[in-house]
Amino acid sequence: MTGFDAYQLPEEHQEIRDAVRSLCEGKVAPNAAHADETGEFPQASYDALRSADFHAPHIPEEYGGAGADALATAIVIEEVARACAASSLIPAVNKLGTMPLLLAGSDELKRRYLAPVARGDGMFSYCLSEPEAGSDAASMTTRAVSDNDHYVINGAKRWITNAGVSEFYTVFAVTAPGERSRGISAFVVEKSDPGVTFGAPEKKLGIKGSPTREVYFDNVRVPADRMIGKPGEGFKIAMRTLDHTRVTIAAQAIGIAQGALDFAKRYVQERRQFGKAIAEFQGIQFMLADMGMKLEAARQLTYAAAGKSERGDADLTYFGAAAKCFASDAAMEITTDAVQLLGGYGYTKDFPLERMMRDAKITQIYEGTNQVQRIVMARELLRG
Ligand code: CAA
Repeated sequence: MTGFDAYQLPEEHQEIRDAVRSLCEGKVAPNAAHADETGEFPQASYDALRSADFHAPHIPEEYGGAGADALATAIVIEEVARACAASSLIPAVNKLGTMPLLLAGSDELKRRYLAPVARGDGMFSYCLSEPEAGSDAASMTTRAVSDNDHYVINGAKRWITNAGVSEFYTVFAVTAPGERSRGISAFVVEKSDPGVTFGAPEKKLGIKGSPTREVYFDNVRVPADRMIGKPGEGFKIAMRTLDHTRVTIAAQAIGIAQGALDFAKRYVQERRQFGKAIAEFQGIQFMLADMGMKLEAARQLTYAAAGKSERGDADLTYFGAAAKCFASDAAMEITTDAVQLLGGYGYTKDFPLERMMRDAKITQIYEGTNQVQRIVMARELLRG
């Protein structure tokens, strides 16, 4: 790790970082510009990550996975994001989609659905938001109606990351209308279930290689045993999931920022103006110092939150929100400054920094805007 570590990572975690970095420099980074230009899903990144078991590293060994802890998973996502932010959504969204199962699914359901994800036979997306229910997730209207041993799902979900390329979806739907958050339940839906269709890919500012689409449910019949947890538990499962996975968005943000800082650092040492490398000017040095300082503060908070995620600490809600909010704000500042350090070159597509700046922006928005994170933090502080 470059930077200013306050503590030493466990050797095992350092080895994971080295292995992911080496894989990503060879087989993921080369796909980043193409995925950004074409909007095509980076299949080569998925194949490379699958070959080394980094595509869904968090899945426990008992379900056929690599059994990475929350810190190791964060490091994998961070390192993939350093090379290609869109590719980092493969391990990140696999964790997001499967976390409800891991937290509340029956053993049978976990065995059925975690094993194929661990094998790399399918990815798992998370369907919470709707066109009219974004920050106010509990106001969703997608409905699941009990019908003998099945539920029939109707509605539309929006902003679904990796929609269409994922085989499996955790879908939150209202089973008891009028009860708001207490009337929501969670289900596993398969892409192949009759009645599941997808909207056109959104045209986005960044993370273009990761498809974002609407998902429609038209009388989709799912067996009742595909409910995750009990009826009415869905909203709490959704929120607890986000407590854990906001840490992974923080990891993605610091990975993007590290990629930008590494590139800008090399550039200012090579670029000569006024007869010397621009890295020799104090104005440039102060910018680099601030970028490194913010990045390391974000990393320390993210790793602390990962520890809390691993232990399931009661204050994870606060730390997950704080890490996501701080790291994504830092990533936006660092990538913007990195573009500035390259001047006109930073503004062109001849260099990767404008892409990194565009990719960083989404980390301030998804898995809850940073305004929502501040609501969550303030509530926790006041409650405490
Ligand atoms: N863990 C467990 N339970 C929780 C919880 C948590 N972290 N947060 C809330 N709850 C419980 C509450 O205790 C409460 O339970 P009771 O009814 O028993 O009292 C219940 O859930 C309702 O909680 P609130 O009253 O706090 O709910 P709210 O309607 O006020 O909403 C909110 C709070 C924090 C604003 C929430 O709606 C929220 O986080 N919104 C943002 C949603 C979000 O992050 N969306 C991102 C979608 S995923 C994505 O972006 C990925 C992708 O693929 C693009």
